[in-house]
Amino acid sequence: MVAESAMEASSLRIREVRKSFPAPDDPATRRLALDGISLSLAAGELVSLVGPSGCGKSTLLRLIAGLDSPDSGELMVGAESIVGPNAERGLVFQDPNLFPWLTVRRNIEAGLAARHVLHENRHEVDEFMRLVGLESFADAYPHHLSGGMAQRVALARALINHPKVLLLDEPLGALDAFTRMRMQDEVLRLWQARRTTMLLVTHDIDEAIYMSDRIVIMTQRPGRIERTIPVALRRPRDRSSADFLQLRGEILELLHFAGNAVAI
Ligand SMILES: Nc1ncnc2c1ncn2[C@@H]1O[C@H](COP(=O)(O)OP(=O)(O)OP(=O)(O)O)[C@@H](O)[C@H]1O
Ligand SMILES: [Mg+2]
Repeated sequence: MVAESAMEASSLRIREVRKSFPAPDDPATRRLALDGISLSLAAGELVSLVGPSGCGKSTLLRLIAGLDSPDSGELMVGAESIVGPNAERGLVFQDPNLFPWLTVRRNIEAGLAARHVLHENRHEVDEFMRLVGLESFADAYPHHLSGGMAQRVALARALINHPKVLLLDEPLGALDAFTRMRMQDEVLRLWQARRTTMLLVTHDIDEAIYMSDRIVIMTQRPGRIERTIPVALRRPRDRSSADFLQLRGEILELLHFAGNAVAI
């Protein structure tokens, strides 16, 4: 069973990473997007990344995914340096980006097929569809799915590669409030079943508190780490408990004092 498989997470280590891009108004000069990011995740840890728009959260995830490289600094998964994309680092975006002409099953299989490993892993496709509760939609096409269901396909498609690290870039940002809360439980259930190391970008403080072991707050661009807040609340968490609301108040106050309140 997938849910009982051995722990396959890896630690993630980011050290003094800087990244610049050509300035849009003057392409001859470069503008710093990330200014010396250092961050470590233990294997199996779930960490949220919060910060104002444009502070470099997606840029950092793209560097970890190996889709881009830093100007300087080091990114490691376990003992290995990140030098390019690899299926062991899954990335899920706000838009599920499903192939509209493929069924749910074929969408989930697509990455395996592209890597020519579908044949030996085909038996897992059914298990993963069950894991995300979509087994009765195997032959449906994306336009038949709700937003939450499509996002579950995107999660299954990333998880079937057995990622050691799962990078989530506002994966629930486009969902309505109720679906979003259900999907938070879904992601937590998958995390608990697989114990994958997860880095979750979110603009939603409640989501960050509900889900993560730690919350990392970034500054305005160029992004630096402003502060890391451990979330010591017992799971499953109660969004209306006094401890939850107290932490929420503290974080909002911190963001306000950091001058980020409006931009987040
Ligand atoms: N390929 C690129 N070329 C030029 N500039 C870029 C590129 N990618 C990102 N940037 C710039 O880097 C900065 C950080 O962008 P990024 O998308 O990482 O922010 P973000 O924190 O994810 O924002 P949001 O919360 O709005 O998604 C921005 O100023 C952006 O314009
Ligand atoms: Mg972004």
